[in-house]
Amino acid sequence: MFKVGVLTISTKGAAGEREDASGDLLVASLAEHAEVVARGIVPDDKARIEQALRQWADDLRLPLILTTGGTGLSPTDVTPEATRTVISREAPGIAEAMRAASLRQTPMGMLSRGIAGVREQTLIINLPGSPKAVRECLEVVLPVLAHAVELVTGERTEH
Ligand code: MTE
Repeated sequence: MFKVGVLTISTKGAAGEREDASGDLLVASLAEHAEVVARGIVPDDKARIEQALRQWADDLRLPLILTTGGTGLSPTDVTPEATRTVISREAPGIAEAMRAASLRQTPMGMLSRGIAGVREQTLIINLPGSPKAVRECLEVVLPVLAHAVELVTGERTEH
């Protein structure tokens, strides 16, 4: 089992004004496949998101970080920009696959700007914010996560 961090990006959630249903769902859905060793919630603030991603990648050395939220078109949605700042290589196929599958569920799927990419030995993947979107997008990436982690870390993992 590989290690993973689940980072929710929600200003209301971080202020305790909204339950982190998507973070809970991610943790529950990953349980059989991975070891969730970090869980956090930060507001829609580019610097705060970058700080959390850097800390989990550089200090905790997590091979995988899944984010949820802040990928849309509202002025406060900055998750893709923060992610792009901390990664060195983009993995466009992951985001493309999620968007393609999302579009089959709802035209709103095209409104997510989420990206995926690699910082050192950490793969970071942006998922949209709603529990429905998280469920639909996680289903798409789950089958490739173990191998992706293997490639990113250069280590063999069980899968
Ligand atoms: N993707 C899937 N699979 N299912 C959805 O319901 N919702 C969309 C989109 N992606 C959705 C989806 C909507 S309504 C928005 S606004 C964008 O994700 C961005 O969501 P976010 O800003 O919460 O990240």
